[in-house]
Amino acid sequence: MYSAAATRYDNQDFYRRCGRSGLKLPLLSLGLWHNFGANDPYENARAIALRAFDLGLTCFDLANNYGPPDGSAEITFGKILRDDLRPWRDELIITTKAGYYMWPGPYGEWGSRKYLLASLDQSLKRLGLDYVDIFYSHRFDPGTPLEETLGAVAHAVKSGKALYAGISNYPAAETAGAAKILRELGVPCLIHQARYSMLDRWVEPELLGVLEKEGIGCTVFSPLGKGVLTDRYFKGIPADSRAGHDPRFLRPEHITDAVLAKTRKLNDLASARGQTLAQMALAWVLRHKVATSALIGASKVSQVDDCVGAVKNLNFSADELARIETILAG
Ligand SMILES: NC(=O)c1ccc[n+]([C@@H]2O[C@H](COP(=O)([O-])OP(=O)(O)OC[C@H]3O[C@@H](n4cnc5c(N)ncnc54)[C@H](OP(=O)(O)O)[C@@H]3O)[C@@H](O)[C@H]2O)c1
Repeated sequence: MYSAAATRYDNQDFYRRCGRSGLKLPLLSLGLWHNFGANDPYENARAIALRAFDLGLTCFDLANNYGPPDGSAEITFGKILRDDLRPWRDELIITTKAGYYMWPGPYGEWGSRKYLLASLDQSLKRLGLDYVDIFYSHRFDPGTPLEETLGAVAHAVKSGKALYAGISNYPAAETAGAAKILRELGVPCLIHQARYSMLDRWVEPELLGVLEKEGIGCTVFSPLGKGVLTDRYFKGIPADSRAGHDPRFLRPEHITDAVLAKTRKLNDLASARGQTLAQMALAWVLRHKVATSALIGASKVSQVDDCVGAVKNLNFSADELARIETILAG
């Protein structure tokens, strides 16, 4: 029988306000994109989720299509909720999204009102919930008016099926457009979920500035570059690593000598800071105050433990930041 750790909120500094909202999010959130599908061992998934909550990670990130197969991560988390976490529902931020392919025909993906609202109902059923805390439009749809997509997200909030509205993967200009529409609808945009790491910096030139100006928080996904910004691949490609066993989005050929040369040097710098490379990579994205939460994945409980250690040192000297830039430039 699970009982949540009494120490889970000991570190009050672990929570950061999301944009200009009243909601605080943990500096680290747990993503269920990988390792929570129907073919992943349930006991491992359960142990990761419960350890995360025990360490103060109150936010669990899902999407309709997480698995595989699509929908199965929501089913897995629904079971964890039913069997273990239900008594703590009011301490949890549970998110889901719709935008990518879910079912055949013209209403099974992208950004129509028809798709988004049907998908949210399906997600709630899989999760066994009456509402999610954040409902995201998972991607900008150039074929649907922004008013329709965001109107559907706002409707989800107004109808009580979600508490907050979010967007993900929207370019900077469309983010500003979405913020305006949502504001006019009386449902402010809480959060933007965007990919960001030392290896992928597309948000830096424009998006982070828009988020700051609009008072929107940012949850940063793949801050560890899907595992590349860790010590995972220093001795080859382990069979149980993402590149080793589930190369849908991270293939062995992505782990090149050039990449490893950089990550080894970054690892030396992390050691000099008293951190693991994973911890330094997380601290690096969280140095931006607009980055409300770094959204990690994990295949083992020990990885969650390691990642949480990042928050002991989120500060970088100008010299350290300059050395990171030099290493990344190769
Ligand atoms: N909105 C979107 O479009 C979108 C897209 C992608 C992801 N996301 C969200 O972001 C979440 C995180 O994405 P991600 O899994 O790519 O993030 P990530 O944190 O960059 O990578 C996670 C992987 O890094 C490795 N790892 C984690 N901690 C480690 C540690 N301390 N030491 C060594 N290795 C460690 C593990 O790899 P191994 O599995 O190899 O052990 C783990 O699976 C997803 O679950 C999802 O919720 C959103």
